[in-house]
Amino acid sequence: MESTDLQFVDWFRSASPYIHTHRGSTVVVYFGGEAIGAEGFPSLIHDLALLSSLGMRLVVIHGARPQIDERLEIRRVTPRYEKGLRITDEAALGCVKEAAGAIRVEIEALFSTGIVNSPMAGAHIRIASGNFVTARPLGVREGIDFCHTGEVRRIDKGAIKQHLDHGEIVLISPVGYSPTGEVFNLSALDVASSVAVALTADKLVLLTEGNKGINEEGRLLRQMTQLEVENRLQDDDAISELLCALTASRHGVKRVHLIDRNISGGLLLELFTRDGVGTLISAVPFDELHKATVDDIGGILELITPLEEAGVLVRRSREKLEIEIDHFMVMERDHTIIACGALYPYPEDDLAEIACLAVHPDYLNAGRAALLLEELEKEAKHLGIHRLFVLTTQTAHWFLEHGFTEGTIKDLPMEKKLLYNMQRNSKVFFKSI
Ligand SMILES: CC(C)(COP(=O)(O)OP(=O)(O)OC[C@H]1O[C@@H](n2cnc3c(N)ncnc32)[C@H](O)[C@@H]1OP(=O)(O)O)[C@@H](O)C(=O)NCCC(=O)NCCS
Repeated sequence: MESTDLQFVDWFRSASPYIHTHRGSTVVVYFGGEAIGAEGFPSLIHDLALLSSLGMRLVVIHGARPQIDERLEIRRVTPRYEKGLRITDEAALGCVKEAAGAIRVEIEALFSTGIVNSPMAGAHIRIASGNFVTARPLGVREGIDFCHTGEVRRIDKGAIKQHLDHGEIVLISPVGYSPTGEVFNLSALDVASSVAVALTADKLVLLTEGNKGINEEGRLLRQMTQLEVENRLQDDDAISELLCALTASRHGVKRVHLIDRNISGGLLLELFTRDGVGTLISAVPFDELHKATVDDIGGILELITPLEEAGVLVRRSREKLEIEIDHFMVMERDHTIIACGALYPYPEDDLAEIACLAVHPDYLNAGRAALLLEELEKEAKHLGIHRLFVLTTQTAHWFLEHGFTEGTIKDLPMEKKLLYNMQRNSKVFFKSI
């Protein structure tokens, strides 16, 4: 086989776990009006069509701000904004309706193309839009009348689900209707988070203008906790995508992804490769994940002692824990340690051990151990280490399900081999990172 063929097969196989995971999941995708006129827009629509063909239940929400402003400019009306929101007077409302209608038709047309030899050939995508969003007026705030600018009041999730059940993509514009028959201009981000929350979507994907998941130095963060997002918002409350992400995350959307829409194929890279290209905000509400300090020792002991007594974890004395505390990471809720895990690097062997991974019985099965493992993996990668190992007697399958494969004692670092407890007869698992 040619090397390019082999690369293709390798790539396809590496994507398969993600294809399986995403099938049947509900994903809400948002992009702003800026994306619509851009060169890469048809490719984005092709990628969305592919996700739909792979069995993802897609709801697409688009913005329309530049298209509305263009129409206002033609009519020589200056757009008016207050607190980042448009004041939608009669003239603006006319432009909102025109822009939303034109964009919808344009998107529907792109989803309908099926030219032979194009990525859309044979796709046969069906797309539905409608009156899924009920709105109410924002009204007068601090003396400013927002006129026809509204906020989401209710999402008709039953109707959306019906379309999704039929394999259709649902397309929603940033307009809503009131029971009095009025039309309201809405923030597309407000619509996106409301729809994601109403559907308890598995994912909300925000395709943004530039990277929004960055720290103070402008470095892209691969993951952010809710707390990190909150802190970032304190520094700069103008990042409306972060606010939308936080709202959705706080209300139970498990994963919110922020992806710079200028990255070609960014959506596919984020969903089908291990490292992705965006920022993932995961919802583990109210829990704080941090490196352990001596103050956490009491909490860790409380968590792990019952597991040591049951023989699930190896015994660690308080003294040993004190010496090794820097290796630990803990998850805290209301000042109680509810999960912990440790990473012991063996840099000369390009290995690191995952140890003492434990979650309090009241908090099991919510992905906390998986999150801790991800965090410890990040730490190992940061240290330039490429392989992890773990010794376990009763949790083999959990590690197998998280990418580990069984290995032998002879593959362990020498130090670890010498300490191996034959009586305990733990199994050894490895994972490349
Ligand atoms: C293993 C452990 C850390 C998982 O914590 P968690 O936060 O509940 O894990 P997650 O939510 O990420 O994963 C839950 C999934 O793992 C499964 N799982 C939990 N323990 C398992 C085990 N021993 N073997 C196989 N699967 C297991 C659960 O059934 C669940 O799967 P499901 O949703 O398909 O039913 C927790 O059960 C624990 O503290 N165990 C005791 C300590 C231990 O054995 N540590 C590992 C040795 S270092």
